[in-house]
Amino acid sequence: MSSLTQSNGIQSLRRAAVRGSLAASVHNTQPWTFVVGTHALEIHADPKRRLSILDPAGRQMIISCGCALFNVRVSLAANGYRSAVERFPDPGRPDVLARLTIVHDPSAAASDLAALNPLIDLRRTNRRRFAEDAVPEDLVSELVSVAGIEGAQLVPVTRAEDRVVVSVLSQRADAQENADPAYRAELRAWTTDDARRGDGVPALAVPHGGVGAHDDVPIRDFDTSGTGSLPTETRSSLNQCLLLLGTDADTPAAWLRTGEALERLLLEVTRHGYSASPMTQIIEVPNTRALLRTELRLKMQPQILLRIGRAPATPATRRRRLVEVLVESA
Ligand SMILES: Cc1cc2nc3c(=O)[nH]c(=O)nc-3n(C[C@H](O)[C@H](O)[C@H](O)COP(=O)(O)O)c2cc1C
Repeated sequence: MSSLTQSNGIQSLRRAAVRGSLAASVHNTQPWTFVVGTHALEIHADPKRRLSILDPAGRQMIISCGCALFNVRVSLAANGYRSAVERFPDPGRPDVLARLTIVHDPSAAASDLAALNPLIDLRRTNRRRFAEDAVPEDLVSELVSVAGIEGAQLVPVTRAEDRVVVSVLSQRADAQENADPAYRAELRAWTTDDARRGDGVPALAVPHGGVGAHDDVPIRDFDTSGTGSLPTETRSSLNQCLLLLGTDADTPAAWLRTGEALERLLLEVTRHGYSASPMTQIIEVPNTRALLRTELRLKMQPQILLRIGRAPATPATRRRRLVEVLVESA
């Protein structure tokens, strides 16, 4: 490889790390490190950023890293690189989640993946009230097939009885979690009014005070200090478009795939002018997760509940500085 090509490759890998860091992550923990070499990039989980109360097994930490991995793949394609992805390449180092080795291939820039690159900047988790109009079936079918491409399954929750189950179990999970002072303390530590802080969920991106209790399918109440900027009314109702994302297995490898599928879905939703918010409380509480599976007769392992709809814009959340997340390998 010529030194010019090599330096372009490194630049593209660095750029991909920046794009990776814009991905969704649980509580905006950004639990990742990008290790950049001359033709490869690794994504490592950062267990210090795992939520020990909400996420003892690291499921959501790894899903979050999968979201970052998807953005990295998109960015490399947009820059004209094909990437070979090895997931969990080193059995002795379980925190090394993926290694991407790149080959220059200008045709990659015309791929479906590359076309998603501009949407990385526009994607947001939107916790506002969604409009009542139905999400078109064509869009839902497209999302179902996109999840399949990423090795996951997306199941629309359409039957009235199933929606009631999702509602009742979401309310139960919300009540159970909020009754635990340790859960509330962890949430407080990851919500912030500090505009200089590069992580955590900012007050600007959450509804003001006491959301959840009056909604059919409560969204997580992040407003720990009563300074949330969005309107309190979220109207997260039984009638909205509810989708369950899941996988065949419930292993770290499946969690990584879930994250890749989730980020892809979120970018596709953005492309169509819709908004989404992941809702994971029902998955975090072991007994609501188990009941969700049996009551909805799911063959898959549910990983994420998503609501989709049209909503006014919501502000971007902050990210850690590049020096904190990017390591250049020797
Ligand atoms: C695995 C995972 C779980 C999440 N769970 C929730 C949730 O239960 N409620 C919620 O409002 N947002 C949830 N989110 C969204 C994150 O809070 C959001 O991605 C993060 O704050 C960064 O903001 P952004 O998505 O607007 O960039 C989740 C995201 C991920 C990746």
